[in-house]
Amino acid sequence: MHININIEIEQYLTKGSFGHIYLGNVSSNDTNDLLYNKVVVKVDKNISSVVWECYIHTLLKHRSIATDSSMYARHYLEPICLILYSNVSVMCMEYAVYGTLHDTIIELSKQKLSVKEHELVCLHFANDMMQVLGHLHQHGIIHSDIKTNNWVVKKDQETSKLLLMLIDFGKAKDVLVSSGQTNIIYTGSSSARGFKCPAMIEGSPWSFEADYYSALVCIHQSLYYQPMSTITRVTIDEVKRFGYTSDARIAGPYVIPTTSIKRYWNREVWSTLYYTLLNESSIPSALQTVTQMLQASVSLQAAGVIEALRILTNYLQKI
Ligand SMILES: Nc1ncnc2c1ncn2[C@@H]1O[C@H](COP(=O)(O)OP(=O)(O)O)[C@@H](O)[C@H]1O
Ligand SMILES: [Mg+2]
Repeated sequence: MHININIEIEQYLTKGSFGHIYLGNVSSNDTNDLLYNKVVVKVDKNISSVVWECYIHTLLKHRSIATDSSMYARHYLEPICLILYSNVSVMCMEYAVYGTLHDTIIELSKQKLSVKEHELVCLHFANDMMQVLGHLHQHGIIHSDIKTNNWVVKKDQETSKLLLMLIDFGKAKDVLVSSGQTNIIYTGSSSARGFKCPAMIEGSPWSFEADYYSALVCIHQSLYYQPMSTITRVTIDEVKRFGYTSDARIAGPYVIPTTSIKRYWNREVWSTLYYTLLNESSIPSALQTVTQMLQASVSLQAAGVIEALRILTNYLQKI
């Protein structure tokens, strides 16, 4: 069906890497009917990157249909329209009213949630991230620019829980692009400063594990409100002292964070998450173990998680 649309800009939101982001409405030019209220309008000079972003969404949605289409609807914001001009592209998508994870973490740091509520919020976000990355990677896509500004926060209509939605697929890689192989590796820098995995910094090849490292930096920021730093070349004894009690699947030396797990946090869950994402993120069974552990921990404390998210939601400003 061919429709003429009219995009009305209501408000400036923020600066993007290659353009500006606005809040607007989409209406039909023929009937004047409002088609979409409050959408994000991304006006971007890097046309090829936005076209690629829309293409990745199409791939991901299509590949998800066979397995779990609800995951796509739950954690991604499908582009509504893309208009290409000679020097600029305009893309519209649903607006996540609570803004980015970066904004949410700043608000979290200012508010007086109890230590338990703070941990439960972080646990919920960490669980969301692991679910989304598991889904993304299962369908052959590496985001490769995971950072707190590329997660936006929305309220789930059914459960009223805050949900993390992954945006900005301009640098995403499709590992299935050549004959369905999933063992393709990449070189070169992709993620933002502070979110790059060690291989990316060293100029060594990287793959899916780059996303897990960046996600861990996001989780770390939500827990400690500061950038993550690590100690490399540590022994298994130091790994155990850090709190990881299961057997290592790889030979050392190992990497652990410089921060220790707070005594009032769930030591087993957090130490397993840090250890796995810093050391064993290319081992599917290790990722599965930690993903299941997070999911079980969230389920076990479901009432507490809902209450902590309700309190946080009250503090968040809807833009
Ligand atoms: N759907 C959205 N809902 C809310 N804010 C958004 C949305 N999309 C983008 N933004 C805001 O715009 C910023 C830039 O958008 P993004 O798609 O990441 O483009 P860029 O490639 O310029 O980083 C985001 O970090 C976020 O602050
Ligand atoms: Mg971005």
